[in-house]
Amino acid sequence: MLSFLVILCSLLAACRSSVCPCERPELCQQIREEKDFEVFIFDVGGKTWKSYNWSMVTTVAVFGKYDAELMCYAHSKGARVVLKGDVPLSYIVDQDNRTAWITDKVMLAKSQFMDGINIDIEQAVEEGSSEYYALTSLVKETTEMFHREIPGSQVSFDVAWSPKCIDKRCYDYVTIAESCDLLFVMSYDEQSQITGDCIAMANAPLRQTLDAYDQYLNLKISPKKIVMGVPWYGYDYPCLNFSQEGVCSIEKVPFRGVPCSDAAGKQKPYKWLMKQVNSSMSGRLWDDEQQAPYFNYKDQNGQIHQVWYDDPQSICPKADSVMSKDLRGIGMWNANILDYSDDPDARQQTTMMWNALLGC
Ligand SMILES: *[C@@H]1O[C@H](CO)[C@@H](O)[C@H](O)[C@H]1NC(C)=O
Ligand SMILES: *[C@@H]1O[C@H](CO)[C@@H](O)[C@H](O)[C@H]1NC(C)=O
Ligand SMILES: *[C@@H]1O[C@H](CO)[C@@H](O)[C@H](O)[C@H]1NC(C)=O
Ligand SMILES: *[C@@H]1O[C@H](CO)[C@@H](O)[C@H](O)[C@H]1NC(C)=O
Repeated sequence: MLSFLVILCSLLAACRSSVCPCERPELCQQIREEKDFEVFIFDVGGKTWKSYNWSMVTTVAVFGKYDAELMCYAHSKGARVVLKGDVPLSYIVDQDNRTAWITDKVMLAKSQFMDGINIDIEQAVEEGSSEYYALTSLVKETTEMFHREIPGSQVSFDVAWSPKCIDKRCYDYVTIAESCDLLFVMSYDEQSQITGDCIAMANAPLRQTLDAYDQYLNLKISPKKIVMGVPWYGYDYPCLNFSQEGVCSIEKVPFRGVPCSDAAGKQKPYKWLMKQVNSSMSGRLWDDEQQAPYFNYKDQNGQIHQVWYDDPQSICPKADSVMSKDLRGIGMWNANILDYSDDPDARQQTTMMWNALLGC
């Protein structure tokens, strides 16, 4: 009998949506209020969300398993909870398939009392290809259906740090921006295509990061549609050679047509970085050119590693330019990766990272 009900309910979204998992039924109502400033965060699962600074958070993109408790809590703080949307573009060139995908996402969002969707397509697309037009249509049609079916809902789209065909992602950025509520600019992984010396460098060097916002704005995309994404992680690069000047040459790992990339390194969470920097051979160093912290350490096999990351000092001028460029807000990949333990040092580091989002 129970399994029969489960099957029936999964066929009828209306049946599922009638059961609100929250303590108070009004917490299942979708958020409609628009805040002036977005703090758009990604959550990848687990329970660290209990320690986030909820006086700041306006939108949580759920990239982990759906957690009804998180939805209820976010709603109690007036924050939106949005789905992740990802699909191979070759599938949605076909209009029927595209409509089916969008309908499915709207039903899922409704049945989980969610407030929109974050579309995270990071595939290579050639300008003028059928995928190029299908992607633009996907964003437009998703926004239309979400806004119609869930009044006040938010549809966002994740874009590379620059609109200049980064990683062969040649999208119609202007029409996509017009067709959704906001663009989340992923201002990180900026060494995914290294054309100069194959060496370790900053994940999100300041000048390059900020210049790329001017590229988006020069396309006449409204600053009010742009959310700046900052990294709460860094890259750990094993050095093939470590020069006297401290330059770390890295293995040549090609990516999308370029011979050298940050794929030679491993992504590490801020929590790990803060432990590792203290036991490193260099301690925390600062690169004036890239305006980013880094350190060097030796692993158990004696190999030297160079680690580049972001911390409050490198994030705060970026956050300041969110204000000076009058952007819609700021966010990070991802909220989970700070140290949310009770350790007093960890607590201070974690508070400082959250506060850095609001500027210096
Ligand atoms: C959370 O952020 C607000 C700013 O919105 C700040 O005033 C407050 O001190 C922060 N809370 C904690 C516990 O750090
Ligand atoms: C439609 O989408 C499915 C996956 O959901 C895929 O297997 C199929 O090839 C797609 N059909 C077309 C015509 O693109
Ligand atoms: C490695 O670095 C040293 C200087 O520290 C330099 O003399 C040497 O040529 C470099 N080797 C390679 C293979 O780049
Ligand atoms: C790392 O070292 C700094 C400065 O010496 C100290 O304040 C901090 O508590 C240490 N952090 C950890 C996690 O050990």
